[in-house]
Amino acid sequence: LRILVCVSGGGTNLQAVIDAIGSGSLTNTEIIGVISNNKNAYALTRAEQNGIDAVCVSPKDFPDREAFNRAFLEKVNEYHPDLIVLAGFLVAIPAAMIESYRNRIINIHPSLIPSFCGVGFYGLKVHEAALARGVKVTGATVHFVDEGTDTGPIILQKSVQVHQDDTPKTLQQRVMEEAEWQLLPQAIDMIANGRISVEDGKVRYK
Ligand code: GRF
Repeated sequence: LRILVCVSGGGTNLQAVIDAIGSGSLTNTEIIGVISNNKNAYALTRAEQNGIDAVCVSPKDFPDREAFNRAFLEKVNEYHPDLIVLAGFLVAIPAAMIESYRNRIINIHPSLIPSFCGVGFYGLKVHEAALARGVKVTGATVHFVDEGTDTGPIILQKSVQVHQDDTPKTLQQRVMEEAEWQLLPQAIDMIANGRISVEDGKVRYK
């Protein structure tokens, strides 16, 4: 499976995928490129350190959103990916791209969707909202990307205990370690090995 990984920040989820391929736990998968909207994303450094083609397509370099959307989709198409993996990617995916890659774009979100998701719920804000609500359990979700924000068919979820003394930072770290970094490679492996189908908007395991 040829996967293209889209990143915006530190790239710890990208690193988890790189490591899973290296350890052999993620099979039949090749990262053919990493694209970031942020030229300073450490995720680009991680890609380069692992010999993976790394490019930046930044909205700042375009006169308007439509021009960026076209350039971004053109760059994506150049890689001919089988699967697009959004790993901490903070840019809305253009509708044309959703259409072209229906059920071939996945995203990792740091909560148990449908809790604490949707526009404005990203990064630390997700964990701030979970702590503010006083939930005892949170977690992470891998889902297919559709036209909405965090609304596509759910592929995998994993729960994580919230500790009494958690801060948004300590909770984010635990959710990444105990859930995100396991779920994303696992979901890619299931897709790479033909164990996922989408029927009636729901994911079924074969
Ligand atoms: C993290 O908040 C993670 O939960 C979410 O994106 C953010 C950055 O992840 N998926 P990464 O370290 O850039 O993979």
